[in-house]
Amino acid sequence: MSKQLILALSKGRILEETLPLLADAGITPAENLSKSRKLLFDTNLPDVKLVIIRATDVPTYVQLGAADVGIAGKDVLLEHGAEGLYEPLDLEIARCKLMTAGVTGQLPARARRRVATKFVNVARRYYAEQGIQAEVIKLYGAMELAPLMNLADEIVDIVDTGNTLRANGMEPRELIAQISTRLVVNKAAMTMKHERIKPLLERLDRAVKKRQ
Ligand code: ADP
Ligand code: PRP
Ligand code: MG
Repeated sequence: MSKQLILALSKGRILEETLPLLADAGITPAENLSKSRKLLFDTNLPDVKLVIIRATDVPTYVQLGAADVGIAGKDVLLEHGAEGLYEPLDLEIARCKLMTAGVTGQLPARARRRVATKFVNVARRYYAEQGIQAEVIKLYGAMELAPLMNLADEIVDIVDTGNTLRANGMEPRELIAQISTRLVVNKAAMTMKHERIKPLLERLDRAVKKRQ
């Protein structure tokens, strides 16, 4: 294993909040990320590189060791599973809730309720734990549309302000998990590159605490 450190960052809404934390920890991209079509970036540190990928791909990169460290939402980590990953740090950004939701005032009528979500593993686990029979339907976005179109009785999705639910005549129901962005580390890298990863964790921890 090379002593180079690869960090996998989630593109999208987490990225903007991740970069200031990384800067506080002494890592800045060598070029403007938003102005480039590149996916692999050098940083100010010769032995640290960044890959900017889909949030849902971050755990895969880190689990398989293609990246040593990753930054991803707890929702993505719950859905992917924690095998091969340590989760040593809560970055406390992009806070939101993973919830069930449905059409306002309309309780699920079917005994086996239909649930539309991109979090199929989380949803199956949650409804099984509740002893509720559920048929889980995989969608890739715009979950809030599914009950309106009679595709589903309920959804499992991220809720922050609740504006998206309200705008579509829906209401939040049960809380499944409080979500924030986490730092994950490949288990083998944590051992093999400990002297490189430990100071990064300490600096990021300090950067997070400074913001509270
Ligand atoms: P995607 O394209 O996969 O939806 P996003 O960039 O929208 O990715 O979201 C990345 C992460 O940000 C999610 O995994 C979640 O942890 C968090 N997140 C998603 N939506 C919201 C929101 N409305 N408010 C706060 N955090 C959110
Ligand atoms: C996220 C999430 C909800 C919405 C919740 O969607 O999937 O739809 O935000 O936020 P709110 O409670 O503040 O309205 P996002 O904007 O990321 O769209 P996408 O993931 O479907 O592209
Ligand atoms: Mg999104």
